[in-house]
Amino acid sequence: MSKPFLSIERLTQQFSDGSGGTLTVFENASFGIEKGEFVCILGHSGCGKSTIMNILAGLAEPTSGVVKMDGKEVSGPSLDRGVVFQNYSLLPWLSALKNVTFGVKARYPNWSKDKVEAHAREFLAKVGLEGDVIHRKPSQLSGGMRQRVSIARAFANQPKLLLLDEPFGALDALTRGTIQDELLKVWGETEQTVFMITHDIDESILLADRILLMTNGPLARVAESVEITLPRPRTRTEIVEHPNYYAIRNHLVQFLGKRSKELAGQKMDAEDLRPETVRIDVAGESDASKDSSPALRAVNH
Ligand SMILES: Nc1ncnc2c1ncn2[C@@H]1O[C@H](COP(=O)(O)OP(=O)(O)O)[C@@H](O)[C@H]1O
Ligand SMILES: [Mg+2]
Repeated sequence: MSKPFLSIERLTQQFSDGSGGTLTVFENASFGIEKGEFVCILGHSGCGKSTIMNILAGLAEPTSGVVKMDGKEVSGPSLDRGVVFQNYSLLPWLSALKNVTFGVKARYPNWSKDKVEAHAREFLAKVGLEGDVIHRKPSQLSGGMRQRVSIARAFANQPKLLLLDEPFGALDALTRGTIQDELLKVWGETEQTVFMITHDIDESILLADRILLMTNGPLARVAESVEITLPRPRTRTEIVEHPNYYAIRNHLVQFLGKRSKELAGQKMDAEDLRPETVRIDVAGESDASKDSSPALRAVNH
């Protein structure tokens, strides 16, 4: 089997626990992400999601293990990996437009000023920001608009991998919904690879091709990789009508409510802990023509 686009191999992270001991956040975690995939990682607060993301971004070094992108080991930050954090992290002294052109200029130093600006405007428009509003500074924008600028900025740089750490955590439900739709649209148009942290089950079902489920820490692990067997394009009103929707949702709710705790803190004696693939396809089960799909795991919660 060929190596995936992004491969996380035996990643271990330990920190000092502040009283002379060590805290093992996770140990020997291994998983892969294919090019163009949208993968969400779901887990309770403190299990180590941001730690994984910071390592993928090259902003932190793991205690041991490696991350390879396109076969090359990740070390240090790079324009090939774009990051969006919950708190927007825009440059406050620059307008929305300049916040985007700033990165585009760095990414494409040979482009003319006009080309850079047209490109930035195109990506701002994709997230619904057009007209005078793009000349405002972050302090003059609502939280939702600021997060749109962050997303436009990240996509405009066309990184090979886009990392999103709970990007909608601070937004109200309505704004969140709109920006999720915009994110799906931009992702659909650009075919970028996205790795997104969230603690919102519905958000992850709407967006992801696959959801990685993490057990609680310490000694957390990526226990399952749940395929989201819902056709695209997806809309939040349509997916709830699909027979697979509630089966998948129940599985995720059960995991986060129960199994994430039951499986927590178990020291596993494996050098390479890979998540179990879970495919829930109630709709496909009765369809004999689809018997080539992988074995289904029973969901009898
Ligand atoms: N730099 C650090 N030093 C010590 N402990 C840390 C550090 N960063 C994170 N941790 C600890 O590692 C665990 C995982 O943190 P984090 O990755 O932020 O979790 P999540 O993003 O899933 O909420 C937590 O117990 C946190 O306190
Ligand atoms: Mg976090």
